Amino acid sequence: MRGFITDSTARAGLRLADDLPEPQPGPGEFLLDVRAYAVNPGETKLFEERPDGWRPGQDVAGVVLRPAADGSGPPAGARVVARVDWEGWAERVAVPVHRSAVLDERVAHEQAATLPIAGLTALRALRVGGAVLGRRVLVTGATGGVGQFAVQLAAMSGATVTAHVSGEERAAEARKLGAHQVVTCLRDPALGPFHLILDGVAGPLLTDAVRLLVPDGIAVVYGGHNGPTELRLKDFAMRGHNARIQGFISEHPEETKGEDLALLVSLVADGRLRPVIGRIDDWCRTPDVFEAWANREFRGKAVLLRT
Ligand SMILES: NC(=O)c1ccc[n+]([C@@H]2O[C@H](COP(=O)([O-])OP(=O)(O)OC[C@H]3O[C@@H](n4cnc5c(N)ncnc54)[C@H](OP(=O)(O)O)[C@@H]3O)[C@@H](O)[C@H]2O)c1
Repeated sequence: MRGFITDSTARAGLRLADDLPEPQPGPGEFLLDVRAYAVNPGETKLFEERPDGWRPGQDVAGVVLRPAADGSGPPAGARVVARVDWEGWAERVAVPVHRSAVLDERVAHEQAATLPIAGLTALRALRVGGAVLGRRVLVTGATGGVGQFAVQLAAMSGATVTAHVSGEERAAEARKLGAHQVVTCLRDPALGPFHLILDGVAGPLLTDAVRLLVPDGIAVVYGGHNGPTELRLKDFAMRGHNARIQGFISEHPEETKGEDLALLVSLVADGRLRPVIGRIDDWCRTPDVFEAWANREFRGKAVLLRT
């Protein structure tokens, strides 16, 4: 079987191997014919941490080749999306039933592949804030993989959404996602105050964001590679009395990943959620796309297709 493995001597640290073992699905797993997969920043980190020969790939969409042996899950031929832990950048992968959702016919494989990590993170992080109807929500990294979904989901939940983007050139995209206000700086006391902040940037921007929380507000921090964040009690003293910061890992809860994916799929099918895909290419070009993505040569999700 063909699939990508890490190889520190190869371009972008990735090599397409053709001698991989066939996946051996467990009782609650089906065998998926992978048709599309997406790339996530967390995977770049994993490349650095894992030895050569490791097999990446977490966001997959495709067609069920062999249903789960225990009779659960989708039948052969069903189109599905799934969140696996690794080995998804391959022709076939074993998928736990509870981490998958069947695709509506209106949802293409390439759209579905954008949903598992980015979509689940946005959906679950937004839920931390409870009801946001009529409340102000701030989304940082608003045109990023997670941010694009966070803005759309918050807006459709009735929030008044402020999007923070890295530059003016991203403002139009953020507005298209449904943001009511777009900013490039948070050092403006007239902003907010925010009931909920969804932050994937961290660093000094998070300090500025925390100062804009309402009393008892929540800043959900799900990511960010922008260095440490300095916080002092006085950052909570002006407005955000007793506000809190919540570290957020989208993996939890495990058992409802498929259920949450199904919700995201239904929103895409209805046209209410629009995955922004910055680049689609043939899967053989994964190293090129990965490199371009890491160099930020395009924005939006990168999706690789296996035709
Ligand atoms: N906790 C979890 O379970 C979980 C799940 C998914 C992702 N993550 C993490 O969350 C973070 C975001 O993921 P993603 O998929 O959304 O990544 P992404 O597609 O690379 O998006 C990152 C966004 O942050 C913006 N950004 C980065 N540095 C910035 C800065 N200094 N000032 C302003 N904006 C800045 C980028 O703006 P430009 O594009 O304009 O540069 C982009 O919009 C990553 O750290 C990822 O590892 C965590």
